[in-house]
Amino acid sequence: MRPWTVRRALLGSAGLTLIIFGAALYLLRHAIFGKIVNNVLSLTPNSKAYEMWRDTDKMNTYLDIYFFNWTNPEDLLDLSKKPNLVQLGPYSFRERREKVNIVFHPENDTVSYQQRRTWFLDKSRSNGSLDDKICELNVVAVSAAEKTRFWPYMMQQSLSYMLDQFSSKYYVVKTVDELLFTGFEDHLISMGRMSGLDDTAPPFDRFGWFYERNGSTMFDGTNNMATGVNDIENLGKVLKWNYQNATNYYESPCNAIEGSAGEFWPPYRTTEDIRLFTPDICRPVTYEFEKEVVYKGIQGYKFALGKKTLSNDTRRHYPHQQFKYVESMTTAEGFSSADPTVIKPQPEIDRDFKEMNEGKCYCNGECSPMGVLNITACRYGAPGFISLPHFNRGDKVLASSFTGLQPVDDKHSFYITLEPTTGIPIDVAARLQVNILLRPSKSVVMFKDVPTLYFPMFWFEMKVGIPDDMVGNLKLFLNLTTILMITGLALVLIGSFILFGVAANYYANYQHQFTQNKPNGVDMSQVKTEVVYMDKAGTSEDTQTRTDRRLHPKL
Ligand SMILES: *[C@@H]1O[C@H](CO)[C@@H](O)[C@H](O)[C@H]1NC(C)=O
Ligand SMILES: *[C@@H]1O[C@H](CO)[C@@H](O)[C@H](O)[C@H]1NC(C)=O
Ligand SMILES: *[C@@H]1O[C@H](CO)[C@@H](O)[C@H](O)[C@H]1NC(C)=O
Ligand SMILES: *[C@@H]1O[C@H](CO)[C@@H](O)[C@H](O)[C@H]1NC(C)=O
Ligand SMILES: *[C@@H]1O[C@H](CO)[C@@H](O)[C@H](O)[C@H]1NC(C)=O
Ligand SMILES: *[C@@H]1O[C@H](CO)[C@@H](O)[C@H](O)[C@H]1NC(C)=O
Repeated sequence: MRPWTVRRALLGSAGLTLIIFGAALYLLRHAIFGKIVNNVLSLTPNSKAYEMWRDTDKMNTYLDIYFFNWTNPEDLLDLSKKPNLVQLGPYSFRERREKVNIVFHPENDTVSYQQRRTWFLDKSRSNGSLDDKICELNVVAVSAAEKTRFWPYMMQQSLSYMLDQFSSKYYVVKTVDELLFTGFEDHLISMGRMSGLDDTAPPFDRFGWFYERNGSTMFDGTNNMATGVNDIENLGKVLKWNYQNATNYYESPCNAIEGSAGEFWPPYRTTEDIRLFTPDICRPVTYEFEKEVVYKGIQGYKFALGKKTLSNDTRRHYPHQQFKYVESMTTAEGFSSADPTVIKPQPEIDRDFKEMNEGKCYCNGECSPMGVLNITACRYGAPGFISLPHFNRGDKVLASSFTGLQPVDDKHSFYITLEPTTGIPIDVAARLQVNILLRPSKSVVMFKDVPTLYFPMFWFEMKVGIPDDMVGNLKLFLNLTTILMITGLALVLIGSFILFGVAANYYANYQHQFTQNKPNGVDMSQVKTEVVYMDKAGTSEDTQTRTDRRLHPKL
């Protein structure tokens, strides 16, 4: 074979390869992207997200706490005066979250871990100091009265007597530090523990909202979470909490452990509701799609806490399978077999689902007004109730029972914005308020005539946005299908040019040989130079004339 023919063959096959490769890139771009998404997003010890998940120290996330200072406690029994609350804060803490005791289970594609949270006061972000004195409802006394509500009369009397002996009041004045981290002593706590009567008492000698929580791994429990390795749809889901797949705190099916742990969400989000499992309140909560938003130039779906979680009249369809499963779990754990929440028999087409009033099975008996969630069972029997700050999106009565509360949806909602293609959270504002239910007691004298109030204690805000240095990468990643498409098309184009060039050259050469009639290879070097010239052809007149000359040879 002549050398230049070999080159032509090589060039030709290179062109063809480029075309095939480019076409494959173009046609398979979605499949390729999907593969990359699965690999990048799933959680393994080597994955990109792993370090950030294991330790958030570099992320600088802040927990901002706002207290309500009760300025007229002496007016509580005067029904013509509302309790006046003055919001103080924020008291700002940098929060570090570390995952510890991490064990990957490749056999079922899960990871088990515990979480340690540490808080560091940030004075520059705070408005006020930890020494600020704040007047709050006496949670310890109210809790004691609430716990003994169904005890025999005599025992309630003795509580009444003790409160009198200790000259307890229905309010306390403590510093922010005492209320949060260092805690304060209360005779009732030690009495309750010593008497051994209260076996559900929290295992602490002091009371503080975050007492003994700083740096502890005991509070969020042990999670078993799906890594998404073989099924990206499961990514980030909590499968077991404290080694169980149902909780003891609510009736079936509200005892189900489901939803994301919050850090990872499966890719390809739709506008369907999302669920988040929250150890702090021992239950999953639903976030409803609200709207599409743009955050730092990235399109996102915004999901927020709304009626489906806050109202006690929320119907939900449970797949029959799950329903049965959870139901049997409950019985096994000794809940009352009476299930007050099954609503109605399902029509034929719907027979694989059962409808439940989910709001009701979270009530635990008595239902609360819209906007507050009863977490008493999750808090050692203390009458704790969670709401949005300032009772935002709740029953109007709640906020109007006080002066000083003013819900503003922009400042007081709880939302999660996910980038829909990857499911990466790009903007999150976690905000909740902790309330204590105060209500009259028949036999505890101190609380005989008090009004019924969901009393706000404090609320917190934790805002986390995607870090600026990740924004560019995410945008690039989102454009990957476009990049693959353009690359594919470009390769096809280049390949076609090469093929066309080779073909044109072959044709030209064929004519050249034919017309000059020179079968020996002597002249070939000359031809070759011309070919090379032609391949690089621009629009210069010089090339034009050469091409012309060759295409229309002189006779
Ligand atoms: C909270 O209110 C009390 C009056 O009830 C007042 O003495 C105290 O100074 C207030 N605390 C702050 C930090 O403003
Ligand atoms: C996965 O396997 C581990 C180890 O065998 C086990 O502890 C965990 O409970 C399993 N998780 C699920 C959801 O079955
Ligand atoms: C929490 O503990 C760390 C040390 O583990 C300490 O540096 C920090 O000041 C503590 N935070 C608070 C609010 O007490
Ligand atoms: C700081 O707190 C005071 C109340 O103690 C409030 O009046 C003021 O608006 C707060 N400032 C900021 C910047 O939040
Ligand atoms: C929730 O339950 C309470 C008490 O039963 C009731 O007063 C209230 O109207 C209910 N709210 C909704 C939204 O169903
Ligand atoms: C809250 O839940 C507890 C049990 O967890 C229940 O005893 C209580 O009645 C409920 N309270 C209200 C006001 O719904």
